[in-house]
Amino acid sequence: MLKKLGVAVVAAFISTSSIHAFGPHDGLDCLGCHSPHFAVDDKIFAVKNTQLTNPVNGQSLEGLSAPKCLGCHQLEQFGGAGIRPIHLHTTHPIGIVPNPKIASVPVNLLKDGKLDCISCHEPHPSNKNALYLRIDVGESASSMQNLCALCHSSKVDMAGAGLSINTMKVFSAMDESAGAGEFPVNQVRAQNDTPKYIKPLGKLPKNDLVPNYQDQPDWVYAPTINPYASSPTPTTTE
Ligand code: HEC
Ligand code: HEC
Ligand code: HEC
Ligand code: HEC
Repeated sequence: MLKKLGVAVVAAFISTSSIHAFGPHDGLDCLGCHSPHFAVDDKIFAVKNTQLTNPVNGQSLEGLSAPKCLGCHQLEQFGGAGIRPIHLHTTHPIGIVPNPKIASVPVNLLKDGKLDCISCHEPHPSNKNALYLRIDVGESASSMQNLCALCHSSKVDMAGAGLSINTMKVFSAMDESAGAGEFPVNQVRAQNDTPKYIKPLGKLPKNDLVPNYQDQPDWVYAPTINPYASSPTPTTTE
């Protein structure tokens, strides 16, 4: 029943996002991605895909932002919520340490040294770039090479496109002291290291520091949408 409720909430996000002209993550109202009380991953994240491994190298995606994004952006049978799913085996490689002959990635845009979803996307509602990309590619994403140029500049006609790595601006909201905005490539911040405040998925062990007198609802352990995200007093009709 809770799972169904989650799907209904997702449907509500989607219909809201198609009616209004803001980026669709606005409709998540922070709580779709971050759960102040029932987090399942670091940065108090509300959803996590625990099923997928990286088809590029067979390794776990743990430590990347990808399992967070894919908690929503993957089909349900592969551990996501089925929202505009993308598929890793058909996706630009992620979770790899870049080969410098193929890409020159600004080091600040790597997550623990690896390419990640957040190397290309900054998902916060303050990002007005099309598709939450870190680079402005035009309103209808008509200048996609502006993005590719960030890491593959020797493939792009930089002068023809009016681009130079030294003057390129990269969006980030990850420096609260500097504010959300466009930063020079060598100054942009994609992540801040914080301690692992959130315990990994799974039942809390007895005598854990966290009071365990109350059983958490099942969905805390199942990577799905926070059912309370859009309504403080959820009601079920099913
Ligand atoms: C689409 C998902 C999404 C939405 C919506 C979202 N965030 Fe985030 N947020 C992220 C991701 C991804 C990270 C980075 C996680 C990581 O580093 O692994 C993050 C990180 C953060 C951080 C930690 C920053 C740091 O320095 O580490 C804060 C604070 C935060 N978000 C606040 C917010 C607030 C406030 C909102 C609502 C306006 C919001 N977020 C909406 C995905 C989201
Ligand atoms: C809580 C669920 C949730 C999470 C987590 C989430 N998204 Fe989304 N995302 C959505 C929804 C809902 C939409 C709008 C779906 C639609 O248009 O049908 C969306 C849309 C998008 C779009 C398309 C934007 C557009 O303008 O059409 C991109 C790109 C995207 N997300 C990237 C990401 C990335 C990257 C992450 C991880 C950093 C992420 N999302 C995490 C729910 C999520
Ligand atoms: C190399 C840069 C890059 C990386 C890494 C990347 N994306 Fe994207 N993403 C893009 C671009 C470019 C588009 C627009 C593609 C298009 O319009 O065909 C896009 C589009 C999307 C969309 C919208 C798809 C749709 O239905 O229109 C989603 C959702 C998304 N990305 C999520 C993710 C997630 C999740 C990850 C990590 C697993 C990720 N992206 C990693 C560049 C990237
Ligand atoms: C944030 C940096 C970044 C951006 C932006 C980026 N790439 Fe990449 N790209 C990489 C990395 C890293 C690799 C993998 C290098 C390796 O194999 O180690 C890669 C690999 C590739 C490959 C080779 C894939 C393969 O299977 O061998 C192609 C083609 C490619 N990128 C095209 C693009 C295009 C087109 C865009 C723009 C839409 C783009 N990239 C944007 C970092 C980036």
